[in-house]
Amino acid sequence: MKPTIAPFPAARPRRTRKSEAIRGLVRENSISVDDLIWPVFVRDGEGIEEPVNSMPGVMRRSVDKIAQAAIEAAALGIPAICLFPYTDASLKTEDCAEAWSPDNLTNKAIRAIKSVAPDLAVMTDVALDPYNINGHDGYVVDGEIVNDATVEALVKMTLAQADAGADIIGPSDMMDGRIGAMRQALETTGHHNVMILSYAAKYASAFYGPFRDAVGASGALTGDKKTYQMDPANSNEALRMIQRDLTEGADMVMVKPGMPYLDICHRVKDTFGVPTYAYQVSGEYAMIQAAAQNGWIDGEKIMLESLMAFKRAGCDGVLTYFAPAIAKYLQA
Ligand code: PBG
Repeated sequence: MKPTIAPFPAARPRRTRKSEAIRGLVRENSISVDDLIWPVFVRDGEGIEEPVNSMPGVMRRSVDKIAQAAIEAAALGIPAICLFPYTDASLKTEDCAEAWSPDNLTNKAIRAIKSVAPDLAVMTDVALDPYNINGHDGYVVDGEIVNDATVEALVKMTLAQADAGADIIGPSDMMDGRIGAMRQALETTGHHNVMILSYAAKYASAFYGPFRDAVGASGALTGDKKTYQMDPANSNEALRMIQRDLTEGADMVMVKPGMPYLDICHRVKDTFGVPTYAYQVSGEYAMIQAAAQNGWIDGEKIMLESLMAFKRAGCDGVLTYFAPAIAKYLQA
């Protein structure tokens, strides 16, 4: 870009920072409640809200409490909630059949939310890890995470969620060909308005650690997820993944994790101009909360600054555990 400002002293860039009013006039980005998708954890039982130790401020909620949280989210103006099940160990199997049971925790929660807050968009996670005896997102056969059989299972899971009333399907598994298979299955079963927000550029990241505790998958997981999730060293590959998923029918795309991958968010938005989301994942949240609890940083300011950073990078929205806190801040 050509320089467009005169040299000092004709130009004094500090003039545009001199007061809040002037800073507001020249501000390039803003944060709004419309930017928020709130990830929540569902567990069994009734009347339960239990804290997740590694994610201060985050709860696992029984379905009735999820419904209550959904009403509160809707009242705060949060547009969407995203469900993650904490599945009892006794329901984890080799064939992961619980994943497409119409009465699994996710599907029960979808119906409960839709009956009390019908206008709140409900997003789901599609991957086998909450139901898999070995904690992987796909079937494991002879030590290999097999692709095509997993995709078939993911399609069944997708249709069960769509039948329950999900608005947005969020495939987080990173298998090849899953977006096309899901799109086709949704089209042929009358679910043409169910959207897909693809976890298109999902990296094999250590930032997911607290989440795996939250959903009870860390104990189960054998090995790592590097044969399906992306290598953190790669950037061009992320663009190919986004392109691939858009071609297969994704309506929206996601980069995950968030803050350490803002360069990817920026390239994605710049290249494709499609609805682009980032997931500020559990480890990012835990780091901010831990430092704030120790009095080492101002947690509220960092929460807001991190959301602004996502907007500046080009994201249209962010999945963040801070969603209710941000919404409350914006409302005040
Ligand atoms: C499951 C899934 C994960 C997250 C979202 N969906 C964990 C993983 O891939 O191991 C992580 C979210 C977070 O860390 O907040 N496939």
